[in-house]
Amino acid sequence: MKITYYGHSCFLLEFGGEKVIVDPFISDNPHTVMKPEELEVAAILLTHGHSDHVGDAVNIAKRCDCPIIANYEIAQYLNAKEDVKVEPMHIGGTLSAPWGKVKMTLAFHGSGLELGAGKFEYGGLPAGLLIRMGDRTFYHAGDTALFGDMKIIGELNHIDVAALPIGDRFTMGPEDALIAATWLKSDCYIPMHYNTMPAIQQDPHKWVKELSNRMLRGVVLESGQSISIE
Ligand code: NI
Ligand code: MN
Repeated sequence: MKITYYGHSCFLLEFGGEKVIVDPFISDNPHTVMKPEELEVAAILLTHGHSDHVGDAVNIAKRCDCPIIANYEIAQYLNAKEDVKVEPMHIGGTLSAPWGKVKMTLAFHGSGLELGAGKFEYGGLPAGLLIRMGDRTFYHAGDTALFGDMKIIGELNHIDVAALPIGDRFTMGPEDALIAATWLKSDCYIPMHYNTMPAIQQDPHKWVKELSNRMLRGVVLESGQSISIE
């Protein structure tokens, strides 16, 4: 599996010629190095309804003629309002597709779809995603607080790479993300959801150093950088 980071919580995953993108917040992302028009993906996966995660999903789905995979509430809303293909699912469930499969897990956060002027459409519950392509598993924690069931996610799954928010204020901060990392038992961690805006400034290199002090492996990806796991 090849994993490319595009800043904030946006990751492109590739395996065997198939590509999917998670939380495609691209056009309004100050760290973007990519144009959403350049993407060719088989599916778009969303962790929750906030605009810094839904991002360019509708435009990409229309152009690539591919589904948006999201919780039931977000999927039905986007299908009705934007006439895009959707694949609804929900927490605890797994969806299989030609490119691989995804299981929706818990996250502790909000999920309202932003309508502007402080108004929200109900967006169901936020989620994390366990994404399997080939025989590798990528865990995208979504926006979340630290929660005890991360221990169970780590016990029940062999996670090859986990992306964890470290920005604080809206999600876990660096210290709680270190605790999450010890619980999840992933082979490698990528920090996300930091430095996109002043309220979530963090030093990801310091966080990765703290991981190594705990005998855990982390990697800081700049926007556009990739890692491959065989
Ligand atoms: Ni959010
Ligand atoms: Mn967010």
